[in-house]
Amino acid sequence: MSGSVVEIIRAKNAGGEEQETPAVVARAVYEHPYIVRLCHWINTVALFVMVGSGLQIFRAFPSFGAKIPQEDLLHWPRAFAIGGWLGGALQWHLTFMWIYLATGVLYVSYQIFSGNYRQVLFTRRDIPGVWPMVKHYFFFKEKPPQREAYNPLQKQAYTTAIILGVLSVLTGFAVWKPVQFSWLAWMMGGFHYARIWHFAVMWAILFFVLGHLVMVILHGWNNFVSMLTGWKKDPEY
Ligand code: HEM
Repeated sequence: MSGSVVEIIRAKNAGGEEQETPAVVARAVYEHPYIVRLCHWINTVALFVMVGSGLQIFRAFPSFGAKIPQEDLLHWPRAFAIGGWLGGALQWHLTFMWIYLATGVLYVSYQIFSGNYRQVLFTRRDIPGVWPMVKHYFFFKEKPPQREAYNPLQKQAYTTAIILGVLSVLTGFAVWKPVQFSWLAWMMGGFHYARIWHFAVMWAILFFVLGHLVMVILHGWNNFVSMLTGWKKDPEY
């Protein structure tokens, strides 16, 4: 869906005669459906709580091996953790896990059934467009013309983020219920490895979020507002 305001501009042509020319003075495109925005922001809050409480849980046993005699892997500061202690953090983690899961399932289902997934899903068709975008962002080369809501690099990042979201839930279930989901833990190399995967997936998501925030800042206010209202003002395509 798109809307534009067309204004008639009066200007003199080369011959000096006054002439009326239609010009598009404002353009906005409806890019983010309501459900996508709702899930995006609830999921962002849930992820924040999941990471904070997850790190508090990790603080209770900050190691991935038998405790004796090796050192703790990482001393995560208490100030950057949520829940106060192990039991509290588990409550936060498991409560927000349902919110994180529900928004994830709602988002993915909506994308599939509405067909909106085409805007986000990275496919083979997008592969040739990745390198020119990388060259633009990292080597200051010319920006390739944009024809869709998301460029190939964005699609690649968003598709990866969604896959990481799924992996965070699967590894989490394997760690939470290793008996009931023993087959899941087995697929991940056992409970011990499932825990390591769960931790690694968290850092990968945080890495995505960091890149995502840098991009949002670089791409300006209109992009940010579009994720709040749905409408993107003056898109480049
Ligand atoms: C404060 C944190 C965040 C901000 C400010 C933010 C902002 C945005 C904005 C502005 C867009 C639209 C980009 C565009 O129109 O070109 C977007 C899309 C997206 N963001 Fe975020 N985001 C945040 C956190 C997250 C988190 C935590 C995740 C998941 C781990 C995430 C995943 C996504 C995905 C998958 C899309 C594409 C959605 C779609 O169109 O279906 N974002 N975000």
